[in-house]
Amino acid sequence: MRLAQRVQNLPPYVFADVARRIREMEAAGRRVINLGIGSPDMPPPPFVVEAMQRAARDPANHRYPGYTGTPELRRAIAAYYRRRFGVELDPDGEVLPLIGSKEGLAHVMWALVEPGDLVLVPTPGYPTYRYSVFMAGGEVFFLPLQPQNGFLPDLDAVPEEVYRRAVAMWVNYPHNPTGAVAPLDFYRQVVELARRYDFAVLSDNPYADVTFNGYRAPSFLEVEGAREVGIEFNSLSKTYNMAGWRVGMAVGNADLINALMRVKSNVDTGIFLPLQAGAVVALEGPQDWVSERNAVYQERRDVLVAGLRALGFDCQAPRATLYVWARVPDGWTGESLADALLERAGVWMTPGTFFGPGGEDFVRVAFTVDVSLIREALERVERALSE
Ligand SMILES: Cc1ncc(COP(=O)(O)O)c(C=O)c1O
Repeated sequence: MRLAQRVQNLPPYVFADVARRIREMEAAGRRVINLGIGSPDMPPPPFVVEAMQRAARDPANHRYPGYTGTPELRRAIAAYYRRRFGVELDPDGEVLPLIGSKEGLAHVMWALVEPGDLVLVPTPGYPTYRYSVFMAGGEVFFLPLQPQNGFLPDLDAVPEEVYRRAVAMWVNYPHNPTGAVAPLDFYRQVVELARRYDFAVLSDNPYADVTFNGYRAPSFLEVEGAREVGIEFNSLSKTYNMAGWRVGMAVGNADLINALMRVKSNVDTGIFLPLQAGAVVALEGPQDWVSERNAVYQERRDVLVAGLRALGFDCQAPRATLYVWARVPDGWTGESLADALLERAGVWMTPGTFFGPGGEDFVRVAFTVDVSLIREALERVERALSE
């Protein structure tokens, strides 16, 4: 059997290997504290789960769900964008539910990229951006995100011929893995470039509602002209603690939404109807629990940042996301440290290189575990580093 080149060049998803290693350690009796994953540890509120359960008991809800999401879910997404960002969307043309946003991030490449086309991808960044370009036969031009620029790309430093060749640019704020946030002026500059050079903007915004200290993250679509040049991906995974449900969305430019729908309608057949019913209730129901949940994250973040600094890591408290992006102490790389801490301390942090070039001296530390486990992890790291 001959496997396609695109698979031969494709590593397994970076987190898959580590998950196997951790499972093996746990099977051998080690208790690993996993600070590596961005999966919310708290559940959605009971009224969301109950809505899903009620819908699952209705025999009519077990048929194929259709390609464009239920009208109720599309309307609930549009209402969320109006309420949350002041952005008006047509639920029948500018909104597409996704089976988690990750599949949309990958499938949109099939709608945009011809073999050899160039896509601008921030680094460090969410791995799917770059691998989905490769799967579609395109080429990546990395936009380095550096601490001295607040982890925003230096858009003036990109050569003009690169912009001319580009078919799409990824932007992701609040940013995984650095936790950086972007002002609306940044999006204005992106929209202007997209207009000038005729490329699509793909804004990935799943952390918009995981924010701290009163910070409110904007949507790229708040900027004038944004919907002429791009779409935004969003997700219920982090906002509503629903990562396992696999419900996300693409919103914005109607032509690109339609193209993505055409790709997807040949690949999948939609989201299980009871999950869509639960998603509607999450989007339309009481929202005050979201800020209470964020207060829990904020406490964890503060314990983690203070503890890491005391151990010689260099890091800032992020205003959003689930992650601290920490420069490792002298004498280590992100990979050597992550490896040593897993072996010696049974604590897993994600090496920065998982997110691409530029992450060599960093680890990403997620605060998706209880604060007591964060304290225990810090103690274990302290012991391991003084060995
Ligand atoms: C930046 C970013 N985009 C997209 C996703 C995927 O989210 P979803 O659960 O909606 O597929 C994640 C998940 O960690 C993420 O960090």
